[in-house]
Amino acid sequence: PTVTVLVLGSANADLVVSVPRRPAGGETVLGGDTVVLPGGKGANTAVAAARLGASVAFVGAVGADQYGELLRRSLSESGVRTDFVRTSDRPTGLAYITVTPDGENSIVVAPGANSDLGVSDVDALTWDDVSVLVCSLEVPVPTVRHAVRAAAARGVRPVLNLSPVVDVPADTLALLDPLIVNEHEAASLASSFAGLLDLGPRSAVVTLGARGAAVVTPSGVVEVDAPEVSAVDTTGAGDAFAGALAFGLSSGSSLVEAARFAARVAALSVTAAGAQPSYPTSEDVRRTG
Ligand code: RIB
Ligand code: NA
Repeated sequence: PTVTVLVLGSANADLVVSVPRRPAGGETVLGGDTVVLPGGKGANTAVAAARLGASVAFVGAVGADQYGELLRRSLSESGVRTDFVRTSDRPTGLAYITVTPDGENSIVVAPGANSDLGVSDVDALTWDDVSVLVCSLEVPVPTVRHAVRAAAARGVRPVLNLSPVVDVPADTLALLDPLIVNEHEAASLASSFAGLLDLGPRSAVVTLGARGAAVVTPSGVVEVDAPEVSAVDTTGAGDAFAGALAFGLSSGSSLVEAARFAARVAALSVTAAGAQPSYPTSEDVRRTG
């Protein structure tokens, strides 16, 4: 089958523990049993888009270890093509995640193999039927820059989830359609949603958690809302949003339509534990519609 969505970014094994509250510096808190789940912002985004029915390939790097195997398996089982997943000499990325009873998480990432994803991995890609490229950070900025430029040069729509926030060159920002950020990231970058366009992107989408998302284009700001849900685990909700947005755009939806759909998908993802294991299929989305 032809690939229409390329997702470039990190793949991590998520080592998740629930805690009654987060420890302060120098403090010890006892948590539950460790659960190991496939994660990483890039792999999560790829899985989210594929579950919804997009034809997706993931571009990333994992180590030659059990966690790399876990990630390859999760991608394949969700229908994501792994031809562009390289095995690096470095260990698979790990994310140390604590989840509190309100569903909030905090995460420390040890990038490992993700740091090794380079411009040569981008040069090795085939773009035949690709219409959308989605990148996220936790991988080197020069690699993301190279991928965004390669996409734009081929008429492929480049989308960047600027998470976590790092400095991205202006020539890269200028090509994005859209730049995706959450509200904290947006506040660190601009003094208003509309101000995000001053960074150069053709459009921007701000995810607003339970309140949905705001779509920013030169003609104004449009807010889309999200269904009310009770949060179990918000880990990877932003990645679910990015994957669902890519699915929508690759199937011909407008940016506002795609964002409205993505806000629903992200809301469903917070109702179950983990990132990838909580992502809905199109059928799940219809059933809860
Ligand atoms: O966005 C959630 C993801 O961030 C987790 O899966 C973790 O791996 C970190 O990359
Ligand atoms: Na979840």
